[in-house]
Amino acid sequence: MNYFTYKDNRLFAEDVATDQLAEALGTPLYVYSARTLRRHFRVLSDAFKGSDTLICFAMKALSNLSVLKLFGDMGAGFDIVSVGELMRCLRVGADAHKIVFSGVGKTDAEIEAALKAGILMINVESRPELHRVSEVARRLGVQAPVSLRVNPDLDPGTHPHISTGHRDSKFGVPFAQVGEYYAEARTLPNLELAGLSTHIGSQITETGPFNEAAQKVARIVSALRADGIGLKYLDLGGGLGIPYQEEPPPPSEYAAALLGPLRSIGLKFIIEPGRVLVGNAGILVTRVLYVKETDVKRFVVVDGAMNDLIRPVLYEAFHEIRPVLRRSGGPTVTADVVGPVCESGDFFARERDLPQVQRGDLLALMSAGAYGFVMASNYNSRPRAAEVIVNGAEYQVVRERETFEDLIRGEKIVTLKGGPDA
Ligand code: LLP
Repeated sequence: MNYFTYKDNRLFAEDVATDQLAEALGTPLYVYSARTLRRHFRVLSDAFKGSDTLICFAMKALSNLSVLKLFGDMGAGFDIVSVGELMRCLRVGADAHKIVFSGVGKTDAEIEAALKAGILMINVESRPELHRVSEVARRLGVQAPVSLRVNPDLDPGTHPHISTGHRDSKFGVPFAQVGEYYAEARTLPNLELAGLSTHIGSQITETGPFNEAAQKVARIVSALRADGIGLKYLDLGGGLGIPYQEEPPPPSEYAAALLGPLRSIGLKFIIEPGRVLVGNAGILVTRVLYVKETDVKRFVVVDGAMNDLIRPVLYEAFHEIRPVLRRSGGPTVTADVVGPVCESGDFFARERDLPQVQRGDLLALMSAGAYGFVMASNYNSRPRAAEVIVNGAEYQVVRERETFEDLIRGEKIVTLKGGPDA
């Protein structure tokens, strides 16, 4: 459910026509719907009502300050994976005690910043990391709240690049050894064993893997209790998919699958949703530059590219493509929708049936809110797109389009000794 709909054959974001946004702000352009963001947060919160669950938005999915502020104001915490993300949270006045810190490669400086900020817990992913956190906490004279991220060794049935819960992935500590890790953690100074965490992958479209993970962590929690290790938090990660093409379960079924095996466990829950909160709340609007016909194919060349939205080539992801202005009737064509970047991997869609398009038309790549802008790069010296948020009949730019000066900021033209002949 989202608020990108046609009115009189014009694609609107809430009550604002997206062609007007493109005229005013240029393309490619990321457009977010505030009403959709809020609605997604509410639906997910409702699904977990009755349980003691903190929603920590996995901000890697969309980390614009205004989006963070919107979720923070609704009571969300945040799942962060870098000090940069921590600083974004602090910049919008987020409650540090609702922040969890995930990731396999935290530096000492990042651990220190997180402890100084007073975050809820650090999700530790390896034995050496446990030792580093203990050491940094000792140096700062604080107790570090930690959880161990367990790898439950299961197949979440998603694309290999976004699957994390099987035993040969780099994530988490091995399921069979979690007990040993906690026993070791207990011997280290300045650690508070606050919780247990897990995350099995992303864009998961069945409840089965979530249920299996919950059952497995329930077993671990019981075993730890028997060993005298009592925890406060159980962090169940993120991963619920959205309907790009497939039909994921509704949040209520997802919540039931997770909570079912854990009803009587008596811990506070944390979830780390990213995509499900923001994916369908954003689109990428792009303009057709050329329609190029060869003897074997038709290419619709647009001004957006893989540097703006890399998901199609990186994960073979499907993003629906809609015309911003819909002409009624008319033939459809089959085309590859491609960008200007000098790579064959620079495509948004292949062999896609589209309405007839011509130079100047606007197209919308749907469901681009998650892992869209945040994965954008400056490849081919392309400035990153602007981001705008619509709220009812109003819109506000939340990130300016980059300029050439932004592109070269920090670069220097140095004089190299010896000159051109050296
Ligand atoms: N928690 C942890 C520890 C994670 O690693 C992730 C995502 C999440 C939560 C949020 O997962 P979500 O609810 O969004 O599925 N760039 C890829 C997705 C990468 C996901 C990385 N980790 C894509 O565009 O599909």
